[in-house]
Amino acid sequence: MTACATGRNIWCQIHAAIAFASITESAVAAGESADFEESCCCHSRQGSPGPGDSCIYNAPEDYRVAYASALHCRECGNEYPIAPIHVCEWCFGPLEITYDYDAIGDAISREKIKDGPLTMWRYADLLPVNGENAVDIGTGMTPLLKADNLGREFGIDNLWIKNDAVNPTYSFKDRVVSIAATKALEFGFDTLACASTGNLAGAVAAHGAKANMRTLVFIPSDLERGKVIGAAIYGPTLVTVDGNYDDVNRLCSELADANESWAFVNINMRPYYSEGSKTLGYEVVEQLGWKAPDHAVVPIASGSLFTKIWKGMNEFAKLGLIDDVRTKMHGAQADGCSPVAQAFADEQLHVKPVVPDTIAKSLAIGNPADAYYTLKIAQEAEGSTVGSTPDPAIVEGIQMLAQTEGIFTETAGGVVISNLKKLAEAGRFQKGESVVAFITGNGLKTVEAVQHLANPVSIKATVSSFEESVDVESAVGSKPTSS
Ligand SMILES: Cc1ncc(COP(=O)(O)O)c(C=O)c1O
Ligand SMILES: [Zn+2]
Repeated sequence: MTACATGRNIWCQIHAAIAFASITESAVAAGESADFEESCCCHSRQGSPGPGDSCIYNAPEDYRVAYASALHCRECGNEYPIAPIHVCEWCFGPLEITYDYDAIGDAISREKIKDGPLTMWRYADLLPVNGENAVDIGTGMTPLLKADNLGREFGIDNLWIKNDAVNPTYSFKDRVVSIAATKALEFGFDTLACASTGNLAGAVAAHGAKANMRTLVFIPSDLERGKVIGAAIYGPTLVTVDGNYDDVNRLCSELADANESWAFVNINMRPYYSEGSKTLGYEVVEQLGWKAPDHAVVPIASGSLFTKIWKGMNEFAKLGLIDDVRTKMHGAQADGCSPVAQAFADEQLHVKPVVPDTIAKSLAIGNPADAYYTLKIAQEAEGSTVGSTPDPAIVEGIQMLAQTEGIFTETAGGVVISNLKKLAEAGRFQKGESVVAFITGNGLKTVEAVQHLANPVSIKATVSSFEESVDVESAVGSKPTSS
């Protein structure tokens, strides 16, 4: 059974995917084998494709994605054409890109990557889009910084911070949206949309603006001002929904079903979108001198980022760019939204959904889509953990990172630093082992969480007022107290 190749026209692809499922279903019901290639909408309507057809066989050469050949279901393995679809029609499993790794292996090398642009697009061979047409606002190749001050505080001698808070819209979400927007244009969409916990909103709005697309952004009504303004400034249609993220996501799934001409980056575009997070894994490996770290500490909301960092590093090993991956993957959640950490503690692979209640709003997904795969990786990568942390410790984590390393992270980063501290205290890191903490969002977006810490001394504009009021010594090198 072969799937129809990529269609140029989105309706061809959508119908083809649906046709594929229904044809195979009825064929199986009738005890026959199905041949989709002869039966997709454009072929059955037009017979053999000829000049002027909208099918891939007439698509311009540069449209063809060299190394992303199809989609497949992560559960039952069924194949689908490259199309704006995300769920298996057979078993409702999530769809994932099928790559031709032999061809990638022939094309890619450390030298080629090093000669590439200083953005995430240096890894274009491993992404499911045509990189030459990328919707690119300069995302990626963010700093990996040795964190000796923080390492000293926690007793970690080889600690690194991957500072992804300095991307164009100040979170790692620029990576996933750069791919999704590029793919949306390839498919011919003119509308970009998302359901967001906050950071995705800004990333989608910015890329929509850059790509000249109509942009629709849906967020929960209680988001931080920095995130609302950080999206609104790019001019999208910004919709606040009365409810939490899980409510927003449910609504958007219905809207995506009803509006097939909209590219919802984290719904119908999800197989492509989520691949953008692999570039964080690639970058860290490259920046560590083509070595995977011994430990990675990663924040979890849906779990996608966690799974894709792992996938990216393992692809490098599969392609022979590095020897192996022995990374212990540590997931980090907030106590007020810790379904994955709870399932890990209970040694389960399925989560019990929760109603989130935490200051870490960017991680507040009570029913995470990729929880199962996250937990599988935590199991597979021996010695991995998934932990959670209370709100006061999140604030302390934000302070610790700022006051030791000069990096201001949002609440998700506070969750990471707090979990890092717990792991260090539990003796998880051996001497010399490299530990990378992934800081994925910027503190200026969540000032509400730390505004109580800003207590400047007010003085008159005189030297005497300064001398009377300001205790210079107590300020120098002051550190947050550890709890
Ligand atoms: C700053 C930040 N870090 C991490 C995450 C987690 O992403 P994922 O949903 O891929 O687990 C999010 C999600 O919105 C986020 O905003
Ligand atoms: Zn399936």
